[in-house]
Amino acid sequence: MTLLLTGADGQVGREIQRLALQDDQPIVALNRSGLDITDTEAVLQVVQETQPAMIVNAAAYTAVDKAEDEPALAFRVNRDGAGNLAQAAGETGIPLVHLSTDYVFDGTSPRPYLETDLVAPIGVYGHSKWEGEEAVRQRLHHHLIIRVSWVFGVHGNNFVKTMLRLAREQDALRVVADQRGGPTYAGHIAALILDLYRQIVNQATTSWGTYHFCGSPITCWHAFAEAIVRTGRQKGILDRPVTVHPITTADYPTRARRPANSALDCRKIEAYFGPHTKAWQTGLEDMLERLAKEAA
Ligand SMILES: NC(=O)c1ccc[n+]([C@@H]2O[C@H](COP(=O)([O-])OP(=O)(O)OC[C@H]3O[C@@H](n4cnc5c(N)ncnc54)[C@H](OP(=O)(O)O)[C@@H]3O)[C@@H](O)[C@H]2O)c1
Repeated sequence: MTLLLTGADGQVGREIQRLALQDDQPIVALNRSGLDITDTEAVLQVVQETQPAMIVNAAAYTAVDKAEDEPALAFRVNRDGAGNLAQAAGETGIPLVHLSTDYVFDGTSPRPYLETDLVAPIGVYGHSKWEGEEAVRQRLHHHLIIRVSWVFGVHGNNFVKTMLRLAREQDALRVVADQRGGPTYAGHIAALILDLYRQIVNQATTSWGTYHFCGSPITCWHAFAEAIVRTGRQKGILDRPVTVHPITTADYPTRARRPANSALDCRKIEAYFGPHTKAWQTGLEDMLERLAKEAA
């Protein structure tokens, strides 16, 4: 029973590979050069040859600001690539777990977003991911779309790594305090996906559809940055104190707008698939311990 993974070199992809290896879970893990998900024929051929028990799509165009200037590429990967995988999965009767994002929402809700809330993406990236979700829904009944937010982990570029780099260069950081969300550890997403895989292959689920999964508790970038500096000092990654000043979104203009509220309500996934670790502080400690070990 093999798991087929696309986007294997990404933050989440690398963690899925690591946990699959730890669990002796057979996996065919393909990065972009192994399988470009925008190549319709290649996708079908790989799926037919591999005959996996499940496909996980961790491949995506994730450059939120750059997407504003290259929308065609963002849509090709996030909409058409997802559609290709769903099409191939449908033709071969294989379930697909597809990752999506809080950026499908506009962030104006006063409470965490439910799966049933109306989407209204405010940028190209969010729009392309929404159309990717729709491409999956239209082509394949046996799908799980998991929306995650503010992903961080050992591999790739992310907010935690940026804060650590800046904290080594500057005595004071200025970080946005008026955007709220749940930082989600790539290792926690990987553990969730491998558990979903076990539940699916044991036929313990017929609960196909869309789910939210994000780190807890909900926080803001500023408070998260303070936790990164504090934990970095505790784990010996940072060797000096750094002050983190709160600023507003207006003080830090970016090419793409970000939702002010990225919080996802995660009760549905817990009700259908059971509880899964999602405390971001635990994830942060694990990440920084691993980085410290790598650096030693
Ligand atoms: N990062 C976040 O903060 C965040 C937040 C919410 C949701 N998500 C979603 O979570 C999922 C995983 O994100 P992540 O943070 O792990 O992303 P990531 O680190 O950017 O990894 C995405 C991977 O997809 C690969 N890729 C790009 N185009 C491809 C193509 N045409 N065919 C095959 N592979 C391709 C990339 O390869 P190259 O490096 O070679 O381009 C990269 O290795 C995505 O669906 C993303 O939209 C992420």
